[in-house]
Amino acid sequence: MGITRVLRIANSVFRRKLIQLCSKGQVSFSSNVLVDNGVVIRCTDGGKVHIGSGVFLGRNVMIVSRGAAIHIGDRTHVSHGTTVVAKSSISIGDDGLIGEYVTIRDQDHAISKGRISHQEFAIKPVVIESNVWLGAKVTVLRGSKIESGVVVGANSLVKGRLASGAVYAGIPAKRVKVLSPD
Ligand SMILES: CC(C)(COP(=O)(O)OP(=O)(O)OC[C@H]1O[C@@H](n2cnc3c(N)ncnc32)[C@H](O)[C@@H]1OP(=O)(O)O)[C@@H](O)C(=O)NCCC(=O)NCCS
Repeated sequence: MGITRVLRIANSVFRRKLIQLCSKGQVSFSSNVLVDNGVVIRCTDGGKVHIGSGVFLGRNVMIVSRGAAIHIGDRTHVSHGTTVVAKSSISIGDDGLIGEYVTIRDQDHAISKGRISHQEFAIKPVVIESNVWLGAKVTVLRGSKIESGVVVGANSLVKGRLASGAVYAGIPAKRVKVLSPD
């Protein structure tokens, strides 16, 4: 990626374009965060977002915290087109690799009878521990926990807990390989 397309979080004009609807103190950046074009970080209802040091946010990444806490750990790489939306809590650990067009949400529309768009949300926090690789177009659903050292194959759907030290793939994602220790 050309260095000219990557903007270092340095000047306040750029910060204002990137961060929408967030008051002072709701978004915190550690050092050396790299942000590509079109990235949006939006907070509503007092939501907070923390971006760790050395994080890369690729083109058109969208991070939305609706009264929630979103944490992205140090050195995690978030590839272009990824969407992270929280109403409670989404935590992504250090040294993560998030592929292109990944979706991570901690909420669903409740789906009892009636107009779905008028219903409350079903919400459960998502935890993605450190050193996790999510392949392109992975979707992570509410309540999921992905333990450290897990690899998730491209196009997979994560629901529930993925135990550490293995490769998972499919819809829903199942264990396809156990990783041998170093
Ligand atoms: C998950 C992945 C890393 C596994 O690679 P691998 O260790 O070489 O695994 P294998 O090819 O030996 O596959 C093991 C099994 O899982 C299956 N599998 C692998 N990836 C799969 C996927 N994404 N969806 C469904 N099944 C998958 C294979 O078909 C194979 O099944 P089998 O044992 O029944 O034949 C790779 O398949 C993958 O999806 N990479 C993501 C690439 C990507 O998105 N990159 C961009 C973002 S950084």
